[in-house]
Amino acid sequence: MQQEASLRPARAGDGQALFDVTHRSVAGLATGHYTPEQIAGWMGQRTPAFYEDLIARGRMVVAELGGEVVGFVDAEPGEVTRLFILPHAAGHGLGGRLLALGVAAARDGHAGPIRLEATINAAGFYRRHGFREVGRGQFSHGLGGDPIEIIHMELDGAGATTPAAG
Ligand SMILES: CC(C)(COP(=O)(O)OP(=O)(O)OC[C@H]1O[C@@H](n2cnc3c(N)ncnc32)[C@H](O)[C@@H]1OP(=O)(O)O)[C@@H](O)C(=O)NCCC(=O)NCCS
Repeated sequence: MQQEASLRPARAGDGQALFDVTHRSVAGLATGHYTPEQIAGWMGQRTPAFYEDLIARGRMVVAELGGEVVGFVDAEPGEVTRLFILPHAAGHGLGGRLLALGVAAARDGHAGPIRLEATINAAGFYRRHGFREVGRGQFSHGLGGDPIEIIHMELDGAGATTPAAG
């Protein structure tokens, strides 16, 4: 990548950018694994205001590159709930950096495994960071739209958040 992205807590007013990053990330990186209808309906009834409510909970971190928000991660105790990177910023280690912060936020006030709902396209990335598959289901943090198949994954206790060898 041209330069390293900088990370900061999400703040009020970032909602539109987070909405756009989610939409563009999925449209650019998840296409081979979901139908065009699923991709088109991915955002369901979500609006930038939906993201403003999440930002106000205080656990979201965004990544900026050249003044543009290019990714973010969100968590709640015991779960990394969202991780999205814009296509042009993916594949350079930013997802790994944000995942480590998301896992740390999920561990805050929580003992035991960290859960997440991986999109099919991202399961390999999470495996690489120590998560293992524990089941299959549908995304549960959206708002309307077509059902999205996901893989339930878990990271044990104080498991790895840096890439596994191999
Ligand atoms: C999944 C995602 C967050 C990964 O972010 P990223 O910045 O591309 O990932 P990184 O560059 O940090 O990759 C870290 C390692 O994982 C590997 N990796 C990345 N994506 C992978 C994938 N889909 N499958 C297998 N391995 C993958 C990389 O090769 C890299 O390995 P290395 O350390 O040997 O080079 C990003 O591709 C994305 O936003 N995808 C679309 C949205 C999405 O599906 N989000 C997850 C919702 S649960």
